[in-house]
Amino acid sequence: MLKKLEETTHYIKQKIDFEPQVGIVLGTGLGGLTKEIQNVGSLPYLEIPNFPVSTVKGHEGKLIFGKLGGKNVVAMQGRFHYYEGYTMQELTFPIRVMKLLGINLLILSNAAGGVNPNYEIGDLMVINDHINLMGANPLIGKNDVDLGPRFPDMSEAYDKKVIREFTKIARQHSIHFQVGVYAAVSGPTFETPAEYKYIRVLGADAVGMSTVPEAIVARHMGLPVFAVSVISDLGVEGKIVEISHDDVIDAASLVEPKMTLILKELLGKINL
Ligand code: HPA
Repeated sequence: MLKKLEETTHYIKQKIDFEPQVGIVLGTGLGGLTKEIQNVGSLPYLEIPNFPVSTVKGHEGKLIFGKLGGKNVVAMQGRFHYYEGYTMQELTFPIRVMKLLGINLLILSNAAGGVNPNYEIGDLMVINDHINLMGANPLIGKNDVDLGPRFPDMSEAYDKKVIREFTKIARQHSIHFQVGVYAAVSGPTFETPAEYKYIRVLGADAVGMSTVPEAIVARHMGLPVFAVSVISDLGVEGKIVEISHDDVIDAASLVEPKMTLILKELLGKINL
């Protein structure tokens, strides 16, 4: 893996002379943040050696390099999901590449179903912990100690300092948000009512099909993670309605300006 990583990183550095400080993964319906990036260059996934290629509507595949909130960022426009058939190692490969490019903070975003009965569609939820229900883990297999330890600690998977900073900024703008636990499932089916209930009983506030593998790989490498969900639908008894991927995209797109505003300011304020 290290050899592949070095090959990919070398290719990117040759193409774009830019050292990113922050890596950003944009979730379903949240790709608009890239319009705010003062672009210095971009690379389609297709052209990057060893990169997977994304297949889902709403997930265009390219790496975007530029300035956001005064910081050097690399953003993944389009992420890879387990349900697309990639292995856990494949879908988290770009996270490792971004770390080797020099990032020291990873920001993840996603659209998720709310299972906390106090949540509403359109809520922002800062992730303060997760439950991995995917039935897989990207670290299964031979461990490369040059990347990280065999048994990584996960006692503070989501960086408290960044959460505090987000909280301050959201309050200053009177932007309402939740803080909660994200449960990751493989998908691609949305949950049955019984599954939503089960996920709630386990201690989650929201459920989705991404983010956790990326967070695990980042923590394996000692990379701080900040993650935020947009609640796009509700898996709450009495509020469950039929949903489609387009509904998820539409709901997330509506909240995107709020998310963009906070993330931009967050990057301006955070010391890296
Ligand atoms: N369940 C799983 N993943 C999701 C959901 C959901 O309700 N909404 C958006 N992603």
